[in-house]
Amino acid sequence: MQNKQRLKSEEYEEYKSGDIAHAPGSLASGSSSICTSIEPARHVPDIAEDVRAGLLSAPRSLPPKYFYDERGSRLFEQICTTPEYYPTRTEEKLLSHYSEEIINQVKPEEIIEFGSGNAQKTRLLFDACERSDHTCSYAPFDVCEPMLETVSEQLQSDYHWLDVKPLLGDYRAGLDHLPKTHGTRLYVFLGGTIGNFYPEEAQEFIKEIKDSMQAGDYLLLGADRVKDNHLLDAAYNDEQGITAEFNLNVLNVLNRELKADFNPENFEHQAEFNSVRNRIEMHLVCIRDHIVHMQQLDEIITFQKGESILTEVSHKFTFDGLENLLVESGLHICKHYEPENKYFSLILASCPE
Ligand code: SAH
Ligand code: TRP
Repeated sequence: MQNKQRLKSEEYEEYKSGDIAHAPGSLASGSSSICTSIEPARHVPDIAEDVRAGLLSAPRSLPPKYFYDERGSRLFEQICTTPEYYPTRTEEKLLSHYSEEIINQVKPEEIIEFGSGNAQKTRLLFDACERSDHTCSYAPFDVCEPMLETVSEQLQSDYHWLDVKPLLGDYRAGLDHLPKTHGTRLYVFLGGTIGNFYPEEAQEFIKEIKDSMQAGDYLLLGADRVKDNHLLDAAYNDEQGITAEFNLNVLNVLNRELKADFNPENFEHQAEFNSVRNRIEMHLVCIRDHIVHMQQLDEIITFQKGESILTEVSHKFTFDGLENLLVESGLHICKHYEPENKYFSLILASCPE
């Protein structure tokens, strides 16, 4: 088991460095995983259903979770380091200032994180635990298995005292089947990912978190704020074109999973702030007429130059809008951290008695 885990992580490193084409293990059946699969609490459409519903009718759209195959997760990591993408740096700074205060207030027995990704910023909470002589367990919950495995192994070896229990699944499928724990739980949801939900869905998701909490549990939520349009546009249109590559990569996912023949060269990345809806809207715009076959679905799509697929929305919040989101769900705001430029919010909220 140990050997297998190490091998997987080495393979993933090779994949990350570009030596092998596909991340290992993703579709391998029968290989043992260190992750616990979380059974969906309700039906969520599979990729075939999502693509039928989203691409075969107008306006065309795709759910954002399909971005995060192995390559997508690696590209997202790179987006986070671009000079234009301020959210990661800003949130990281807030966490480095306030992690100790948060850990000392919450004293969590378990930290559970939705959409944990590379968990780079979450390390600041673990560092704070070390400084405060506090120990706990950590349950990263994500859809991207190779990322979850590699990150869990790295964390386990970097923080020997931390009990890492990776959870594999779709957090939009309900939270009823999360493992139960005793003691205080700190729910963590960072990166502004709450903004990728539509407003009603965001409210429902926070309510689901609240409903799975026990009195005395906490939620740490990171969310992006409304700001100058140019800064927002730039954050989703980096000079190096990594965001464009990330957006286009979803077509490779469809090609692989649905035996489709999208040619990414027929599409262009577009991201623009919609100041009426306070959100970035990300599209793949078709730049020449063409036909796509999706063998698995036994469908063809005719794309015309100029038409587009909505691949992601990223809502930006006001200070009050964010607090309302939490209070509406019955949570109590303990702390609302923001930097001087008010680019980003980090809120610690608790579940009252
Ligand atoms: N928290 C990290 C990563 C944010 S990117 C950060 O702040 O940098 C969003 C993460 O959520 C990715 O790791 C992606 O794999 C995961 N994700 C997206 N949709 C998901 C879903 N429906 N269920 C579980 N994880 C999901
Ligand atoms: N949660 C991130 C955000 O809304 C996700 C993200 C950043 C993203 N850049 C992206 C999603 C580009 C799609 C494309 O900021």
